Amino acid sequence: MRYLVTGGAGFIGSNTVDELVRRGHSVVVLDDLSAGKEENLADVRGKITFMKASITDLEAVRRAVHEADYVLHLAARTSVPRSVKDPLETNRVNIDGTLNVLVAARDAKVKRIVFAASSSAYGETPTLPKVETMQPAPISPYGVTKYVGELYAQVFGRCYGIENVCLRYFNVFGPRQDPSSPYSGVLSKFITCCLDDTQPTVFGDGEQSRDFTYVDNAVQANLLACEAPGVSGKVFNVGTGARYTLNQTLQLLGQIAGKPLDAKYDPPREGDIRDSQADITLGRKLLAYDPQVHFEEGLRRTFAWYRAAQPKPAEK
Ligand code: UD1
Repeated sequence: MRYLVTGGAGFIGSNTVDELVRRGHSVVVLDDLSAGKEENLADVRGKITFMKASITDLEAVRRAVHEADYVLHLAARTSVPRSVKDPLETNRVNIDGTLNVLVAARDAKVKRIVFAASSSAYGETPTLPKVETMQPAPISPYGVTKYVGELYAQVFGRCYGIENVCLRYFNVFGPRQDPSSPYSGVLSKFITCCLDDTQPTVFGDGEQSRDFTYVDNAVQANLLACEAPGVSGKVFNVGTGARYTLNQTLQLLGQIAGKPLDAKYDPPREGDIRDSQADITLGRKLLAYDPQVHFEEGLRRTFAWYRAAQPKPAEK
């Protein structure tokens, strides 16, 4: 089968590409390298087709999707605080870009498109865990764009018959997540602070919680969402069903590193939600999604990866 992975040089994208190649599929990656990196594709160099372009360029998307069976649409401007700072840019990439991918996928008559949606769609709805039947109520521009992407994917299903599946990822973490931007995922930041002996910053009291999901679980869901029969038009949570507070993650990291982490506490971040936890019953039932790596094991693996990837003192 031939897969187009938008954002395939990024964190979740490149991990997905590795698995697709391992399974013998043909893969095209479309990525503008704004967040992704070519080095993330080092293990599959020569085995995939790489196109450097943005999803905001419709003609480039059309070229990339040519003859694809499946589209995994993962390209996006991530980050809640970035979207609060610059909603226009997040909108341009996440909504206009997604519309381009849908139009190109429709015209290329792909078998199915899988859209990387987000747990941020749930917003501040107080019920835990979050179930797909709950009414979305995003509280950040990022959450809005991800929810609009879902609506567009579903509407393309209705209007043009294009099969679509939306996956609401819950705080995915793991190897290759870029820790270097102010908008990076919290665990990539905490781990690199721990390795660099710098002080991590907690926004708020650290008692906010997340269903941190190791990237291999998200990759599993991505592949199942392409293949599972009879699930078009559906939205699935991709989490683990557990949740940890930031304070708990700091404590666990301290145990893994063998030294306590002394964080500094700053005011809470704009657009932040308090708690997040996935109900994954629907994915288990209809996709056979079965997360294999629980949080603490994922944290150990991720810590080991960053430690191995860290430049030695002489190279710094
Ligand atoms: C949100 C989405 C997630 C999406 C991600 C994309 C929710 C529940 N999750 O993640 O599905 O993939 O955006 O960017 O909406 N924090 C610190 N110190 C730091 C960095 C962050 O304390 O140095 C805090 C944040 O204030 C937040 C928590 O850690 O409370 C998690 O932040 P982050 O990793 O950025 O993810 P979310 O915004 O939860």
